[in-house]
Amino acid sequence: MKKEKKEKYSNYISLKESRKIIRYNIGQMKYYERLKRKKKEPSEYTTTMHDENNIIEVEDLETCFFTDTGTVQSVHGVSFAVPKNKVVGIVGESGCGKSVTSLSIMQLVQAPQGQVVGGQIRFNAEELGYDEEGRKLCYDIVQMPTKEMYNIRGKDITMIFQEPMTSLNPVFTIGYQLDEVSFLHTPDITKEAAKAYSIEMLKKVGISMPEHTYESYPHELSGGMRQRVMIAMALAGRPKLIIADEPTTALDVTIQAQILELLRDLQKQEGCSIMLITHDLGVIAEMADEVVIMYAGRVIERGTVQDIFHHPLHPYTVGLQKSKPLINSDTNEPLYSIPGQVPNPINLPNCCYFRNRCGKCMEKCKGEYPHEIKVSETHSVSCYLYEQE
Ligand SMILES: Nc1ncnc2c1ncn2[C@@H]1O[C@H](COP(=O)(O)OP(=O)(O)O)[C@@H](O)[C@H]1O
Ligand code: SF4
Ligand SMILES: [Mg+2]
Repeated sequence: MKKEKKEKYSNYISLKESRKIIRYNIGQMKYYERLKRKKKEPSEYTTTMHDENNIIEVEDLETCFFTDTGTVQSVHGVSFAVPKNKVVGIVGESGCGKSVTSLSIMQLVQAPQGQVVGGQIRFNAEELGYDEEGRKLCYDIVQMPTKEMYNIRGKDITMIFQEPMTSLNPVFTIGYQLDEVSFLHTPDITKEAAKAYSIEMLKKVGISMPEHTYESYPHELSGGMRQRVMIAMALAGRPKLIIADEPTTALDVTIQAQILELLRDLQKQEGCSIMLITHDLGVIAEMADEVVIMYAGRVIERGTVQDIFHHPLHPYTVGLQKSKPLINSDTNEPLYSIPGQVPNPINLPNCCYFRNRCGKCMEKCKGEYPHEIKVSETHSVSCYLYEQE
């Protein structure tokens, strides 16, 4: 009887277990916070890029949240790279770790419960010089002290968030907030020069009355205009990498297309790279050069946009493609949806996370998590279907 009761409430955490989790969390959080405050020599947070043509290389990134119900492994060994002057799309269902990956790159994960616990994020900065062997140095953002991060965050790497209303401060004018970016990155700039630059940026993002918008408050603008202002703000520091986290999800479809076109044009003009996060494969097809598909905190497939759209391999990618509505479809069949849900990210077992939803599950899929298989120079997948005997 007792055993039955325990099984019935297997999701229930006893007071004793809860205390144990809290004690463990406090220990972990203190440890990682102490590491962040520690004084470091530049040699401790600089390294060399694996490929000079990349602006950022993420390798085996691990980001956890220490919650009262257990450790949430939000990002679990994620690796990908964003080449210079390219757009890389990160796709996946809600909750698969896209935002946490981008916040890890910006060192903005909600601390102390959220911590980057492993991996490397190599950022190709210009000013660092060369090591003894003549290789160009780069930053490792995971090891970088918070103080150093201020030098690149908002300048070399900027972010455009999903909801512009929550990112703009409602009590300051657009002009005040845009000028602030110039003052921060060019401290000796005059007030007049900052204003002129802000108005130039507003013009660049297609705002027709920039002087008027400069004097406006965020609530006086439409959603599309606000997102344009956010793009202007992101571009103001002349970044090398822009992270756009679902930049058009809060906008209606026609405005979405305009904003995406603007982003693509500006990326070409300015010669920067974009890491574009979205759950919409249509957006990826329009914008991206390369695609990374994420599932439950892991990268399950990556390749060029042609690889992913013409030869999708992982059953999850195939499912995502099938669940895309088509305008010219003439069948009356209901739209396909992938059965089941993303698994609970606490204490995930070491096996394929897509197993319970996969129509192609085989005996060997019960084994450990499939490692990444390179099927061509540009295309790789983590699935037992493509493992050679
Ligand atoms: N502040 C937080 N505290 C606890 N868990 C979090 C927090 N932020 C995100 N997570 C968890 O991390 C996982 C990934 O979230 P996220 O990166 O926001 O997903 P998405 O792919 O939709 O952007 C989710 O399971 C979410 O519950
Ligand atoms: S490894 Fe097996 S269960 Fe996982 S996606 Fe591939 S076929 Fe499906
Ligand atoms: Mg998100």
